[in-house]
Amino acid sequence: MNFNEERQKRTEYIEEILKRYLPKKEGYQKIIMEAMEYSLMAGGKRLRPMLMLETYRLFGGEKKVIEPFMAAIEMIHTYSLVHDDLPAMDNDEYRRGRKTTHIVYGEDMGILAGDALLNYAFETAALAFDEEDADCAKVGKAFQVLARKSGIYGMIGGQVVDVKESGHAVSGEVLDFIYRLKTSALIEASMMVGAILAGADEEVVGTIEEIAGKIGLAFQIQDDILDVTGTTETLGKPVHSDEKNEKTTYVTWKGIEKAKDDVAAMTKEAVDGLEKLPEKDGFLRELLISLISREK
Ligand code: IPE
Ligand code: IPE
Ligand code: MG
Ligand code: MG
Ligand code: MG
Repeated sequence: MNFNEERQKRTEYIEEILKRYLPKKEGYQKIIMEAMEYSLMAGGKRLRPMLMLETYRLFGGEKKVIEPFMAAIEMIHTYSLVHDDLPAMDNDEYRRGRKTTHIVYGEDMGILAGDALLNYAFETAALAFDEEDADCAKVGKAFQVLARKSGIYGMIGGQVVDVKESGHAVSGEVLDFIYRLKTSALIEASMMVGAILAGADEEVVGTIEEIAGKIGLAFQIQDDILDVTGTTETLGKPVHSDEKNEKTTYVTWKGIEKAKDDVAAMTKEAVDGLEKLPEKDGFLRELLISLISREK
């Protein structure tokens, strides 16, 4: 099977997991389950669960315990997008090729759908404790990492500074801080959870965190590039959102050519880091390299 077929197969497997863990649409609060499904099943790249699964496999993991965590990370990521698009934040009307959740369900339900996905993510991850022969210490550790990297020391912290520093110039140091938190943190969590559940020791988990941090930076810089060079049709979200919101980005800071070079250089550093490990995974390597030239 070639890389694209492999990737497609994994994407389908991830979507099957997401569907399985979504709540039933019932009760007086049914609208919130519908909004959760609307945003989650819109068809993103599923990069975070894919990285989680692949890192789990890299270290020899082969149990079902990873599945609730895969669903959880995509729910957290999706909630971050639902809230990121709200009028009070980036105020964008398209996401994953459809109208944003708050446009379809109203701002009140948009806020609540984000809250719902966030909370349901942890309800879902907690199901890992019930898996047959779950190693509860490892599940607990993975839970800790997932919680911290999503919160004020991770994604939320990054979004706070991103929003606070809009509308004026930002130093390279602050920009780096924003990217490491708003984007790298969830990618770090993805790969660290995979490594932890597979039984990698603490030092190796630290190495994975470092590698994932670089992948996250490269990923956000490429996102900034595509905001300028991409099309709404391919991206499934509006272009020039950063300009509209007067954001300092890696592209406004360093220029498009330097940004492209740095995406390639940071990815290479991450791939080199992985190659130093005794464990090998050709798919993971190809996936990372494919992100350098991604168009969506
Ligand atoms: C978009 O993430 C937000 C960033 C952190 C740059 P993705 O580009 O992974 O979005 P989806 O999941 O494919 O929609
Ligand atoms: C958002 O960064 C990262 C998140 C944590 C949601 P952006 O605001 O650049 O993401 P997009 O471009 O809207 O997907
Ligand atoms: Mg934003
Ligand atoms: Mg945005
Ligand atoms: Mg962006």
